[in-house]
Amino acid sequence: MAGVYLVFDERFQYVNSTFAGMFGYTQEEFVGTPIRDLVLPDFVGQAMEYYRRRMHEGVSSIRYFTRCRHRDGHVVHIEVHGSRVDYRGQAALAGVVIDVSERVRRDQDLHRSRRRLRELASYLNSSREELRSQLAREVHDVLGGMLSSIKLDVFRIQRRSSGPALAEIQEITQELLPLVQDTIDTARQISDELRPRMLDTLGLVAAIRSELEAFGRRNEILVGFMMEGAEPELSAETATQCFRVFQEALTNVGRHAQAETVEVRVRNRDGRFEMQVRDDGKGIDRPSMREGSIGMLSMAERARSIGGSLYVHARAGGGTVVLLAVPGYRGPRSNDRTADR
Ligand SMILES: Nc1ncnc2c1ncn2[C@@H]1O[C@H](COP(=O)(O)OP(=O)(O)OP(=O)(O)O)[C@@H](O)[C@H]1O
Ligand SMILES: [Mg+2]
Repeated sequence: MAGVYLVFDERFQYVNSTFAGMFGYTQEEFVGTPIRDLVLPDFVGQAMEYYRRRMHEGVSSIRYFTRCRHRDGHVVHIEVHGSRVDYRGQAALAGVVIDVSERVRRDQDLHRSRRRLRELASYLNSSREELRSQLAREVHDVLGGMLSSIKLDVFRIQRRSSGPALAEIQEITQELLPLVQDTIDTARQISDELRPRMLDTLGLVAAIRSELEAFGRRNEILVGFMMEGAEPELSAETATQCFRVFQEALTNVGRHAQAETVEVRVRNRDGRFEMQVRDDGKGIDRPSMREGSIGMLSMAERARSIGGSLYVHARAGGGTVVLLAVPGYRGPRSNDRTADR
């Protein structure tokens, strides 16, 4: 049900009941109303310009969107179609109008909820990262420190417990030592899993290589690494986000791909850093992507948060490619790497 109108000399000569109802008036009330009284002040200029073009510049037909005021005050979004016609021997304008308010509101809602989803993902990522760093530090510094003290004490006990009566103590401490060492190693490993120290000391590329090799061993998958260009000079924040994207891409290969090989290509060229994780597995099937999975969402959000982009696509010969592209960072690396931690 479209609204139909006829305008002569910038005023409505005729509207159908749908048109009148769209704005809360009767058909009779509309006769003689100027166009500029219906359209919102900010859009009057544009509406009159289109009117002029059709009437005086030979543009016979125009379609555009504008906003009007309903009788009760709310805004009505409309799509206008109009053509020049002959009205009692003179030029007039006739056409149809469609109320698109609902569609505009739905688009706005969708837009808003997308933005909120992005904000949420970003919040989750940063709070998770903060928590991880904090835990990693505590496990490493506090727990690690305490365990080292225990180890020293065990040594002291061992040194002082000589003589036959103390053989039993010797035996206990002998058993205790490897246990303490194992605990120290485990604490270090947990700390590294939470936040690899290599990322801070040796940089992103070294951290990627080391993680990739460990992944290959654990999953019995062949791994390959290629690098083009020099070590990228990325900020600590950017390096962390890249590394987390890499970890999730790798985790996905292990969980879903059933791949035999995974190849990582890192490229630092023309002020742009690119990282590709390519597997030769079963390939990614978008329609079957699980609802509620957040890995992809989180990777995309991490990429966005550092001004980069993430592309995930199927490889022609089977398998999946995850590509992260980030504009380069040219600041001083050594200072920066510790700056925002
Ligand atoms: N390398 C891959 N090969 C094949 N399928 C993949 C690959 N990576 C992702 N997928 C598919 O895409 C889906 C979405 O991945 P995503 O990382 O978002 O979720 P997830 O790994 O299932 O769960 P999580 O939220 O814990 O990450 C996966 O469930 C899987 O079906
Ligand atoms: Mg995942």
